[in-house]
Amino acid sequence: MTIQWFPGHMAKARREVTEKLKLVDIIFELVDARIPISSANPMIDQIIQQKPRIKLLNKADMADKHMTARWIEHFENQNQHVLAIDAQTGAGLDKMIKMAESILKPKFDRMRAKGIKPRAIRAMIVGIPNVGKSTLINRLAKKNIAKTGNTPGVTKAQAWIKVGKVLELLDTPGILWPKFEDEEVGYKLALTGAIKDTILNLQDIAVYGLRFLQSNYPNVLMERYQFETIPEEIVDMFEHIGRLRGCLMAGGEINYDKTAETIIRDIRGQKLGNLTFDIDV
Ligand code: G4P
Repeated sequence: MTIQWFPGHMAKARREVTEKLKLVDIIFELVDARIPISSANPMIDQIIQQKPRIKLLNKADMADKHMTARWIEHFENQNQHVLAIDAQTGAGLDKMIKMAESILKPKFDRMRAKGIKPRAIRAMIVGIPNVGKSTLINRLAKKNIAKTGNTPGVTKAQAWIKVGKVLELLDTPGILWPKFEDEEVGYKLALTGAIKDTILNLQDIAVYGLRFLQSNYPNVLMERYQFETIPEEIVDMFEHIGRLRGCLMAGGEINYDKTAETIIRDIRGQKLGNLTFDIDV
């Protein structure tokens, strides 16, 4: 489901996260490893302020591993705590808990010194829709917690999920909005499946995808669509892919919408392998 983010929704989402912030020791900020900048909320620093945070590059199984390593180095150079994870299989989650313990050790040592009884670390997950928040919660809970609609403002009683002895997680994530001032960000969100329905024109998304692959992953493009050489003109690429994949109209003309859909589905479905779309590290 795609949320139409109006200013009122953004304000409400922000208010909800700010409220819950008071309840937790640390934030797990989920982004998509394929678009670690484009899938981040533009105001996350202002919203979270000084609260300790771990940036989790989720869906690392789908991203270009070389680029993920570069992004991790980039965020570490900014003194951010960062980890690549795969919420679906649980890869990286042990490290995540250990990292949270290590970040919060001074706080918990101080509490102990004051005679406050030891307790579990309290955490919440925040991120834009479709980055894998529910998947991560379910993985940590080791069961299926019903997904609250991706709509800020849908309130329900707050509950804590125990994750072993050391961690307690709020069972509802904070849902924040993506950046959409930038058209390129919209295309990247569409190509990774963060925006699924067609707010954007299908052909525009596919054109962006093909141009991106042409510049950054030409070999992958050649192999998937059996190009001997990649045409300069996008329309020629469409023509070739449309014929190859049988996206034709009755008279044998290329069906451009169907071709665009095929290209987008291939990219989302990892048919072109592991790709990272934010490349300006
Ligand atoms: P949200 O709560 O942040 O909105 O995201 P959610 O957990 O619903 O995850 C969105 C989609 O991403 C889900 O796919 C989920 O399985 C997938 N996903 C989450 N984490 C990972 C990961 O680490 N690796 C991979 N490969 N996929 C992940 P879905 O329910 O099948 O929806 P669809 O988007 O595929 O249709």
